[in-house]
Amino acid sequence: MMELLASIHCYFWSPSRTICLWMSLVLLLQYSKTVVSKSDYLIGLGSYDITGPAADVNMMGYANAEQIASGIHFRLRARSFIVAEPQGKRVVFVNLDACMASQLVTIKVIERLKARYGELYTEQNVAISGIHTHAGPGGYLQYVVYLITSLGFVRQSFDVLVDGIEKSIIQAHENLRPGSIFVNKGELLDASVNRSPSAYLNNPASERRKHKYDVDKEMTLLKFVDDQWGPVGSFNWFATHGTSMSRTNSLISGDNKGAAARFMEDWFEKNGIKSSDTNESGSDGLPRRVSNIIPNIHDDNNKLLELATSFRSSPGSPATQTMSVARRVRGALKQAEKPGFVSAFCQTNCGDVSPNVLGAFCTDTGLPCDFNHSTCGGKNELCYGRGPGYPDEFESTRIIGERQFRKAVDLFEKASEQLKGEVDYRHTYIDFSQLEVTLTKVGGGSEVVKTCPAAMGFAFAAGTTDGPGAFDFKQGDDQGNPFWRLVRDVLKTPDKKQVDCQHPKPILLDTGEMKQPYDWAVSSNGIIGAILVRWSLHKVQLIPLHELYLDA
Ligand SMILES: *[C@@H]1O[C@H](CO)[C@@H](O)[C@H](O)[C@H]1NC(C)=O
Ligand SMILES: *[C@@H]1O[C@H](CO)[C@@H](O)[C@H](O)[C@H]1NC(C)=O
Repeated sequence: MMELLASIHCYFWSPSRTICLWMSLVLLLQYSKTVVSKSDYLIGLGSYDITGPAADVNMMGYANAEQIASGIHFRLRARSFIVAEPQGKRVVFVNLDACMASQLVTIKVIERLKARYGELYTEQNVAISGIHTHAGPGGYLQYVVYLITSLGFVRQSFDVLVDGIEKSIIQAHENLRPGSIFVNKGELLDASVNRSPSAYLNNPASERRKHKYDVDKEMTLLKFVDDQWGPVGSFNWFATHGTSMSRTNSLISGDNKGAAARFMEDWFEKNGIKSSDTNESGSDGLPRRVSNIIPNIHDDNNKLLELATSFRSSPGSPATQTMSVARRVRGALKQAEKPGFVSAFCQTNCGDVSPNVLGAFCTDTGLPCDFNHSTCGGKNELCYGRGPGYPDEFESTRIIGERQFRKAVDLFEKASEQLKGEVDYRHTYIDFSQLEVTLTKVGGGSEVVKTCPAAMGFAFAAGTTDGPGAFDFKQGDDQGNPFWRLVRDVLKTPDKKQVDCQHPKPILLDTGEMKQPYDWAVSSNGIIGAILVRWSLHKVQLIPLHELYLDA
């Protein structure tokens, strides 16, 4: 039996809410609770620094021109996972501590991989995804919309991504060894909320009844086990925005997912050496904080200084490298060949999913914001979501990171369902500006309609409760206003066809039709990829693997 399953979703992220493109990776799994059998896969993991310029560069995500990098909270990494059949096909999945992937970056990475490995790694089988941190350097995408607040393309941001991804893939390639993959799933309830609950209520009741929560609470984890070394890494998908760090933060950070990844890698180095079958760390065995990347504020200065000097900044040193020289030397002989543990926390359907789980409040009155428009006395600028560490955003980042980390450890330790089958993949381009969609009408009958080029509405400029926009824009605005319409018309006046097609959303920026000096947004090219393991089975499971935010 051969099957291709691809899942298609479209989610919006703030503040640039237009269209989104994604790849999804799909695995068909065989359920197997029996004794672990050696699999036919080669697995290879790699990790490399991609921190980039830590000063004077605008950060990607909030589209806040004043959010300029001026230091580092913790470093960013690219983590790569390769799964290959010894004589067959292979796939690469790369998770970036960056706001999103970039088609331009991918093109360059593939170019380099082709120069090095021929046709082994191509645009067909290499998927690159971002964790959606809003605290990384910007300027590495090729469309105008994403370059406005960074005042253009930033070569340093771009180069460090291409270099880091390439190096992490080389590392994974060189680490390829026989191993197995396990999968596990579970619900994580306290690391995400819907930041537009009023919009969610616009869904028909019949639709809402199908879901237990108003956001997806499921975490899916893949665990990689080397035949000789035992567990060597994992990655998981869980939907929550990288907006624990605020729109005024100026320190480069992997936000909650980058933190979770470091917590898990540090945890493994300290405790996870044993095989997963033992419960060595116990249900309560996890220390409250196993990583030192977010120092306790009560630590004295000397301790902090000591901590700071223990960080190595040279790119490429594995995140999990033992910091103590004594330990390094002692362990050197035995551990020399052992690959470092690589743990990635990947982004998935995080559309309106916020890590600011306490809800949105007005900064002036301290009262909840207007439910339908996320405003305070009619203004959106004062309405902010609060993380669990409020008012300390570092603490919120740590807490949301730690909640994901704990869930991942739990899934990791209990993962017993082994992946089997052939490795395969699909990759395709789709023109989102003229897709045919069949609408089912209320009361029967259907109608075929077409999508149109992307456009940003007035409500987009209001941002979200994770990062409110400026001026007088409001969420849920279906009217627009004459002043900004005038400003818009200086750039591009949408024609009637486009206005009708986008109705009832009033168009602020007709990005899909703006081509000067070059394309403002992706409108005609989408990518959907699927990678799958096929098998004939009695029980099949579908894993939507990831969405790649090329555009949004
Ligand atoms: C595993 O955990 C349980 C419950 O926490 C405990 O009773 C048991 O002793 C543990 N087993 C091992 C081998 O640590
Ligand atoms: C929000 O909008 C809905 C639909 O227009 C309306 O029924 C509801 O009363 C509004 N809620 C608030 C709190 O304004």
